[in-house]
Amino acid sequence: MHPPPYRRKAALTALLASLAPVGTSAFSAVRRASTVTSMSAAAADPISPDPEAGDVAAASRSLGLFARTPLVPSAPLTELCSGRRVFLKLDALQASGSFKDRGMAHLCHTLRSEQGIGRLISSSGGNAGLAVATVAPRLDMEVSVVVPETTKALVVGRLRRLGADVTVHGANWNEADALARERADADDGAAYVSPYDNPLLWTGHSTVVDEVREQLAEEGVGGAPAAIVASVGGGGLLCGIFEGMERHSWDGAGAAVIAAETVGAASFGRALESGAVVRLSSIDSVATSLGALEVTEVALSRTAGHRGRGGSVSSSLCTDAEAVGACVRFAEDHRMLIEPACGAALAALYSERLREELLAAIPPEGPIVVEVCGGSGVNLDLLAAWKEEFLS
Ligand SMILES: Cc1ncc(COP(=O)(O)O)c(C=O)c1O
Repeated sequence: MHPPPYRRKAALTALLASLAPVGTSAFSAVRRASTVTSMSAAAADPISPDPEAGDVAAASRSLGLFARTPLVPSAPLTELCSGRRVFLKLDALQASGSFKDRGMAHLCHTLRSEQGIGRLISSSGGNAGLAVATVAPRLDMEVSVVVPETTKALVVGRLRRLGADVTVHGANWNEADALARERADADDGAAYVSPYDNPLLWTGHSTVVDEVREQLAEEGVGGAPAAIVASVGGGGLLCGIFEGMERHSWDGAGAAVIAAETVGAASFGRALESGAVVRLSSIDSVATSLGALEVTEVALSRTAGHRGRGGSVSSSLCTDAEAVGACVRFAEDHRMLIEPACGAALAALYSERLREELLAAIPPEGPIVVEVCGGSGVNLDLLAAWKEEFLS
């Protein structure tokens, strides 16, 4: 399925050779292209992505711009769920450290190959910026990232080492995002890259479901899992998961989506409760990567679509202590470091209270898949400090 590295390299060289040079003379084309991007974003039917889409994000996949990550059984979580099989989709192993490589690969590749764009201005709590800074230079694109003051120094350092131009601005992601948009508006040759709100990102993220389907089949599981558990910030990952599940008719098979957040960053949970997007007044959580003040509308329309076709969607809200506790237990059980943003998804099973809620909300048969979305804002010192602050 996947070309060996030398073929990937040849394909990448061929792609770059075919691209129009991006310079002053290409500005008008880029301007037109930007309009097309926003028009296609608006025109995309948010409820019904094309079920015939076939091998989605095929070009970025075959160029090796994101990885096919392992799906591994978790014996400790399976035991906690009284023998119910739990699988972990290890997207923390993507090159940048999180699932974001999937969407960014498809988005950057599309902007480069179809629109000739060579410069990207992104806003990010950290992980989306790391993904764009990892993927875009491989397509010969320049990257600027605006991050809020809450982004950890270790992430800012990593972004700079990847060659991104980094500006630290604003108390939260929304303030950083406003500056990124302003800069992109004032720069004819650049495209703005949202960390979560773009149909190209969602389609890239949806590849996780394609892989899980193939990998569950390899494990002898045909058909849909009982549930996919995933963290929600602005809702991009969630939109991608709905898109992939619709493509494989897993919604019609009754599969559940468990949308995990911390209580202090519950933009999706609040929206689900009230039936409309809710803007939080602030983010108050150790899971800073989940810190979008509101989710994309499409997360709600795709929730309605998923439910309308027979699937279920529930919110799982953990405390900061539960998110950190899940990071610690995951490190002990599976020997990997993840951010609290990802700990929120694992807390849905590690926390007894949330596990009972989850098991009551999903179909009685079939495995549970946890999207281990990863995150780079963690190291041994940070984990020890969070442990001290929240668990002692
Ligand atoms: C590690 C991690 N998990 C989950 C999310 C949530 O993704 P989304 O904003 O697409 O909902 C993010 C967002 O930055 C993240 O960095």
